Amino acid sequence: MNLPIHLGVASAATQIEGGNLRHTWTDWHKKGHIKDNSNPSRACDHWRRWREDIDLMAEMGIAHYRFSIEWARLEPENGFYDGSAAVQYRQMILYMKSKEITPLMTLHHFTHPMWFEEMGGFANPENIPVFLKFVAYAIRTFGDLVEEYVTINEPNVFAVQGYYASEFPPGQKSAATAIKVMSIMACCHVKAYQLIHQMRQEMGLNGTKVGFAHHMRVFTPVKRDSTWHSTCAKTMAWLFQGALTKACLTGRFLPPMKTYTKIEPGEYSDFLGLNYYTRSTITGTKYGTKADAPINDLGWEIYPKGIATCATKLYETLPRPIYITENGTCDNTDNFRSRYIYDHLLALAKTKLPVTRYYHWCFTDNFEWCEGESSRFGLVHVDYETQKRTIKDSGRFYMEMIKTQTMTPEMINIDKMWM
Ligand code: BGC
Repeated sequence: MNLPIHLGVASAATQIEGGNLRHTWTDWHKKGHIKDNSNPSRACDHWRRWREDIDLMAEMGIAHYRFSIEWARLEPENGFYDGSAAVQYRQMILYMKSKEITPLMTLHHFTHPMWFEEMGGFANPENIPVFLKFVAYAIRTFGDLVEEYVTINEPNVFAVQGYYASEFPPGQKSAATAIKVMSIMACCHVKAYQLIHQMRQEMGLNGTKVGFAHHMRVFTPVKRDSTWHSTCAKTMAWLFQGALTKACLTGRFLPPMKTYTKIEPGEYSDFLGLNYYTRSTITGTKYGTKADAPINDLGWEIYPKGIATCATKLYETLPRPIYITENGTCDNTDNFRSRYIYDHLLALAKTKLPVTRYYHWCFTDNFEWCEGESSRFGLVHVDYETQKRTIKDSGRFYMEMIKTQTMTPEMINIDKMWM
């Protein structure tokens, strides 16, 4: 099968860079939230090994890279910018470009400086301009080098994990605050979308593309004939992702979301960024995994068709080119990752949707938030003690697909299927 899609890789600053910064995840392990008690100060030491990592990416033939910048590194205190961090990010981007790797820059991926958090972070609507000030700084600093931006990664996961499930900082447990945070982040996305376009235009630059990375799942009722289960599945889908899709893509804030700044209905995405991993099975107000379903090493159901279902939902809201900004799986032994990729790409190919990019999550193994270093999502293995990188079988499969621009079942080892 031909692959008319650009295959790239994704990462996020906090998960790979390492270093002792003052951001929201720095001390989170001290409260016992991280399974193996690791913390992001080590990660993949990418801040020092970036050249080696970009070289490896280029060797693998990867020409599209989604990465994020660490706000706490660039603006360690409110209004104080560390020029040396900006210089290094610029070197990194220039180096990528010299290797013909096109950058897609994420401005916020789950972490921000403690000073911003101490002001109430995204739970305080008065901080919308503070976030936008950082966005303006990022565009002034990198705008000449980068055309494409993800404003915010997964506002729903950030809000639910941090303010309802209490697994991410700040560890609160309030549904109302989670919805408020999600709404404020949606306002931030829309305003950032406008600002980035305006600034790059004033800089005389063309080709600007801005979107957000939306985490979506399929919500399915446990009993299809149960009205209660179906209603719960629909409600959960709306609360977790449907209302956010509308707000971020079209500026329409429908209940339970609301605006915290003036926003006109409009079109606020140049591409549809989708992060897809799994499906959730709904039993009443609880969610879980379908019995007997194939699962990954974190117990998440592997449900390839869902990537097409979610992409279709986005496209129906706003018809734009689709970027799969993340798709991948926790497979600690690399037994089924190739098969996972194969089946998800196949599911996309069966649709008529304009899916133009696929960024695999992740390039290398990395610091997986609450799972720490124990959960491996990479195409490239990282030995955290020695920081040695080794391309996995799935990485070799990815290289072959990029090289041949085709995908055939013979390319993957069928013994390594999960079913
Ligand atoms: C996040 C990544 C994370 C991945 C796997 C996504 O929700 O954007 O940062 O590592 O899922 O859990």
